[in-house]
Amino acid sequence: MQKLGMIGWRGMVGSVLMDRMLQEHDFDKVEPLFFSTSQAGQDAPAVNGKNTGKLADAYDLDALKSTDIIISCQGGDYTSKMYGKLRESGWNGYWIDAASTLRMDDKAVIILDPVNKNVIDDALNAGKKTFVGGNCTVSLMLMALAGLFKADLIEWISSSTYQAASGAGAKNMRELLLQMGCLHDCVKAELSDPHSSILEIEKKVRACMNADDFPTENFTAPLAGSVLPWIDKEMPLGQSREEWKGMAETNKILGYAPATVPVDGNCVRISSMRCHSQSLTIKLKKDVPVEDTESLIAAQNEWVRVIPNRKDVTLKELTPAKVSGSLNVPIGRIRKMMMGGEYLSAFTVGDQLLWGAAEPLRRMLRLLVD
Ligand code: HSE
Repeated sequence: MQKLGMIGWRGMVGSVLMDRMLQEHDFDKVEPLFFSTSQAGQDAPAVNGKNTGKLADAYDLDALKSTDIIISCQGGDYTSKMYGKLRESGWNGYWIDAASTLRMDDKAVIILDPVNKNVIDDALNAGKKTFVGGNCTVSLMLMALAGLFKADLIEWISSSTYQAASGAGAKNMRELLLQMGCLHDCVKAELSDPHSSILEIEKKVRACMNADDFPTENFTAPLAGSVLPWIDKEMPLGQSREEWKGMAETNKILGYAPATVPVDGNCVRISSMRCHSQSLTIKLKKDVPVEDTESLIAAQNEWVRVIPNRKDVTLKELTPAKVSGSLNVPIGRIRKMMMGGEYLSAFTVGDQLLWGAAEPLRRMLRLLVD
């Protein structure tokens, strides 16, 4: 049985990953060794009711070298600090990582097996050992649109994202809820009076969200009652880093040469908790009937769900409120646009902690150990 090192298993993505691995009995297939950056020597978690010994030190190269496979959800700083050292020490195991640090490295493959199993298989046959989960918006878009990519129908995509607080981290999710609470508290009395003036209420809310003591330490701006049209660092050409990833990662995941399919748009933080949504304008290579695009999309994998373009079912099925916590990736609002028959509009929603982060990692493990 291969020895699996688990690093960063207690954080938000790591916890979602642990839950999924337990649900799918992944630990039956490996001998786990749990690491910690701060609590080495303490008891490791029990798995399937079985003791797994003590936590190893995540900075101990000898302990890391004792593993065959490592999954890290510890974050980019840890990867930057330890991955190179571990490889230089001669370790030739499989490194599976949630962080973006190594994604564009030639030695690394971005993993999303329902979409790019062929790319993963080729990499394994070529002896590659480094596998990295994709950016959440990119992975979720590809889970939804892979049927159109496989049919070679996509010329380019313009996306507008509606990204959840979880993408920014656990502290940000807490801050969003604190902000919501502050806004409610400041007009609680007025809200309980149905005759109070809505414009007075709005004025108070506006003053509250712009006050110096409004909690914005993590987002650096109010998100509750607002939107934040910038995610991650500034890049050349006016893009945010999140926007830059769209084209870079899409093409790499699909095994295309860089920039084969242009992907660009605006990435925006909104006040959902853990589901990212995206509004997509797709330029097709030819005018294909909407029904054909729907069939191609629906047939691609078992998680994508085509939602009929009707109001009732859209508001029931195509929202973060419905999709959070689920592996389903619904896509709806599919229709031709006024620009012409080659322009397709669609809207998709997906849990950014599942397909957007944890799920591709554990599925990569299963490709190695099954
Ligand atoms: N960068 C994403 C976000 C998170 O900020 O929403 C996961 O890739």
